[in-house]
Amino acid sequence: MTTLPSPAQRADILTRADFPAHFIFGVATSAYQIEGAVHEGGRGESIWDTFCREPGRIKDHTSGEVACDHYHCLESDLDLIKSLGVDAYRFSVAWPRIQPSGTGEANEAGLAFYERLVDGLTQRGIEPHLTLYHWDLPQALQDVGGWTNRQTAFHFAEYARIVTERLGNKVRSIATLNEPWCSSILSYQIGEHAPGWHNTGAALSAAHHLMLGHGLAMREMRRLNPSATLGIVLNLGPAYPATPADEPAARIADGTFNRWFLDPIFRGEYPQDIWAHYGAYAPETEPGDLEIIRAPLDFLGVNYYTRSYVAKGGDKPSGAEYTDMGWEVYPDGLRDLLVRLESDYTLPPIYITENGAAYPDVLGQDEAVHDAERVAYFDGHLRAVLAASRAGVDVRGYFAWSLMDNFEWAFGYTKRFGLVYVDYATQQRVLKDSAKWYQALATS
Ligand code: NOJ
Repeated sequence: MTTLPSPAQRADILTRADFPAHFIFGVATSAYQIEGAVHEGGRGESIWDTFCREPGRIKDHTSGEVACDHYHCLESDLDLIKSLGVDAYRFSVAWPRIQPSGTGEANEAGLAFYERLVDGLTQRGIEPHLTLYHWDLPQALQDVGGWTNRQTAFHFAEYARIVTERLGNKVRSIATLNEPWCSSILSYQIGEHAPGWHNTGAALSAAHHLMLGHGLAMREMRRLNPSATLGIVLNLGPAYPATPADEPAARIADGTFNRWFLDPIFRGEYPQDIWAHYGAYAPETEPGDLEIIRAPLDFLGVNYYTRSYVAKGGDKPSGAEYTDMGWEVYPDGLRDLLVRLESDYTLPPIYITENGAAYPDVLGQDEAVHDAERVAYFDGHLRAVLAASRAGVDVRGYFAWSLMDNFEWAFGYTKRFGLVYVDYATQQRVLKDSAKWYQALATS
């Protein structure tokens, strides 16, 4: 059985030639989701270590303690990335490996690990794209309020300085934050991510301090390294009203999810309608904060997985398909989002820093994983990127999420997003059909 496109479809197959010149194809991961080795190399505790120990937080009661054991499999994982033929790799640095308690002296073993990673990529001809914060806050900072504490923003800028001093000249880009909506709203209001709070005011204060930390870090990194390519990664998704009556609700959905972050970062102001919607929960800000937050960026990273469909009765769109996360497969949303961003904001070049899908993959007797749905997902979304690019949006690259199956946060190991299948019992990696498909595209 083959799930790769049939010969009849091949005439229409995507190749590099369809994309703008210099468009890059990459794969992405994050530290806590793959590294394991949480007690090694002088690493301090992060909020995810703590959160995973709390009963009921993680669906399968697991943690990132071992994950893909990437910390120990570094060399072979670098070879694995190389084997995919991609141009670029996006990874994150674990703050608690660099500053075990969130402040003070840098931990040499932590810096050395990431230097080995970056050098290993460069030696293999793969561009390193570094993210500073992919959710693993040092627990010591959470003990004094985490992102609800304004000081955390200043500590983050200090951490950014340490990493930039060591690696700034060696990486192709640095993103400050990954998906601040998740590390504020999902973490402090919805309670699904660490630290698991249910407090709207705290969540908005966290969001403000995350953005302030982003702006302060940008300033610090620019000062140190004026030629570095610096940006931020946001998770964005358009909201579609099911009927005209659902338009006001869709506007709020869009405002709380997208504009709450886009407007401060690109316009230096909070969206007034959402500020009013939050009322007494709106965050305390200090004069000058928004000037810091709107620091000019060299790129915007967009993570896109699905759209939101806003219907009063909770109706679902007809004929929709869903991934194993229950997220609707809606490639047109990515095109619409990019076109809208370009028209509503003055933006730097865009990279799709994450896009991908979980499906219940099985490793067959034939030692293969036939993930035709994932191939279709990538294909559809890459075509949406192309459509946006042809409509004039400056998209420079695409990172598939993820290089390999990994710890999917509150879902533990129950969801598989990888191009590469991971057998967690043996740490064996097996290229899924989607990996071979992506490899064919990247090397076309
Ligand atoms: C976005 C996050 O950045 C990543 O960590 C996560 O695994 C994927 N979405 C899938 O949920």
